[in-house]
Amino acid sequence: MKKIVIANWKMFLNHKETELLTRGTLKNLKKIKNLEENLEIVLCPSFISLPLVSELIKQSSLPVAIGAQDVFWQERGAVTGEVSVLTLKEINTRYVIIGHSERRQNLKETDQMVNWKIKITLKNNLIPILCLGETFQERKRGEKEKVIIRQLNKALKGVKINSKNQLVVAYEPVWAIGSGLFVEPLEAEKISQLIRKKLISLTSKDQIRLIYGGSVDERNIKSFIKQKTIDGVLIGTTSLKKEKFVGIIKKILEFL
Ligand code: PGA
Repeated sequence: MKKIVIANWKMFLNHKETELLTRGTLKNLKKIKNLEENLEIVLCPSFISLPLVSELIKQSSLPVAIGAQDVFWQERGAVTGEVSVLTLKEINTRYVIIGHSERRQNLKETDQMVNWKIKITLKNNLIPILCLGETFQERKRGEKEKVIIRQLNKALKGVKINSKNQLVVAYEPVWAIGSGLFVEPLEAEKISQLIRKKLISLTSKDQIRLIYGGSVDERNIKSFIKQKTIDGVLIGTTSLKKEKFVGIIKKILEFL
């Protein structure tokens, strides 16, 4: 399976800073050979910067895709402040992050909402990046596996997956996000195996891409990417520095 690297810029940058980071990242990526054959790269800026980043990617002709950080579960309607999947499609968005723990925690996003968002995204042929992961308390109580399986079951309730490229599932332990702490790569591998097994029983597809997210950087990338069941990474903080982000990509390419 082709590896995937996703940059989640969250709400860290204003529009001008997003433009600078996009231009800088694309410039550095241009210097890398054989990018397309080996790796899929996705940039996820905030909604308001999506059209600009989409245009810059188009001008660069680089094999980089664009992702949104969220979507609403209806296509149209009286929903003040939300963004429709139809609008995302218009500007060539390919991926949508769904169920990120920052939204589950700060905005009380529920498993039911995550399920609706997955459905509307798939219906419109965009690819959901479904985020799952336990909090520190849940982990301490020994509930890690239970939480992940519950989130997965509920997110995919009534969802039909037709091909392996229709979905990406990210294991993102909540306590590892933005904290500089990360899961032991072997533990992430074991969780990915658990997710793989459950996904096969839910979707009968055995090739859905599974990725890890949570304080990924240049020092730990190799130990994650060499795991058998980990097909890529979701990177927040480190993706905000173009040299570091492209450094991670180079390390992955060395490994492939
Ligand atoms: P981080 O964020 O790399 O800063 O830990 C990851 C994420 O939230 O997707």
